[in-house]
Amino acid sequence: MADFDALKEKVENKLVSVFENLTMPAEIKDAMYYSISIGGKRIRPVLLLMFASLNGAYSETALDFAAAIEMIHTYSLIHDDLPAMDNDDLRRGKPSNHKVFGEAMAILAGDGLLSLAVQIMAQRSIHDHEAILAMNDIIEGAGAFGMVSGQAMDIMTERAQAGYSIECIDKAKTGALIKAACLAGARFSSFSDEEIGFVSDFADNLGIAFQITDDILDVIGSTELLGKNTGSDEKNEKETYVTYYGLSGAQKKAEESIDKALYSLSLLNKNTDTIKQLTLDVLKRNH
Ligand code: IPE
Ligand code: IPE
Ligand code: MG
Ligand code: MG
Ligand code: MG
Repeated sequence: MADFDALKEKVENKLVSVFENLTMPAEIKDAMYYSISIGGKRIRPVLLLMFASLNGAYSETALDFAAAIEMIHTYSLIHDDLPAMDNDDLRRGKPSNHKVFGEAMAILAGDGLLSLAVQIMAQRSIHDHEAILAMNDIIEGAGAFGMVSGQAMDIMTERAQAGYSIECIDKAKTGALIKAACLAGARFSSFSDEEIGFVSDFADNLGIAFQITDDILDVIGSTELLGKNTGSDEKNEKETYVTYYGLSGAQKKAEESIDKALYSLSLLNKNTDTIKQLTLDVLKRNH
């Protein structure tokens, strides 16, 4: 199977071609494309393609879905940085969307990316049952049962209006979209219900570890490497894995989650070497 960098390049080429073929007013198109084009690790689309490759080469439809999930993730980052949310000025090494285009256009850029993603998936789903299942996974993870609710719980807890547990917040705000990427990929590999269950357990644990390392890097990471300002969580008085468990406690929790993820992955009985490597790299990441 292709390695991370090769899949990342495929996704980035696909994103470029989607925008080349998009006719809409330049102002909003530029705002949407800005946040897509300035970088990002692309972990969600690469995961989708890795899972979509486990029973043979991934399809053109899977590549479209990979681009779509990256658009949804990027919309979530644009909105997350808004003054009404985390109020962060730096993202992917560049000024946040609202710093360049203004708040109104940043809100619309996020909305535009979400609806474009849904349109791309819908067009591919007309005659494709696997694509419909994958689309359902992604919209569920992005929406009311996933990231949107997680972001709401995060904000409510920050403002001490409600005290959701860190596990509950992060499973939704970050875990749900990572899980959706893995499940959508697994749909394109025509996995059985039992295999979908293993992928689901894997992804739950990967998502937890991913947000724990995000919280740790917000405290001890480098702004230059991360491309976003550190200390954002402290500034916003967020509850994080670090405030709950301390740095070493959080690191231990991340390691435990990665161990659990790798166990679930092994139950698939497939050649998952590149997914295993990506999973291990989450613990060592510095950006
Ligand atoms: C950051 O996601 C926000 C979280 C959900 C933790 P990433 O760390 O994947 O950000 P990019 O896409 O690489 O910029
Ligand atoms: C955001 O979590 C998760 C999203 C759904 C965007 P954070 O607020 O911790 O993400 P960063 O640290 O700003 O990337
Ligand atoms: Mg946030
Ligand atoms: Mg944030
Ligand atoms: Mg963070």
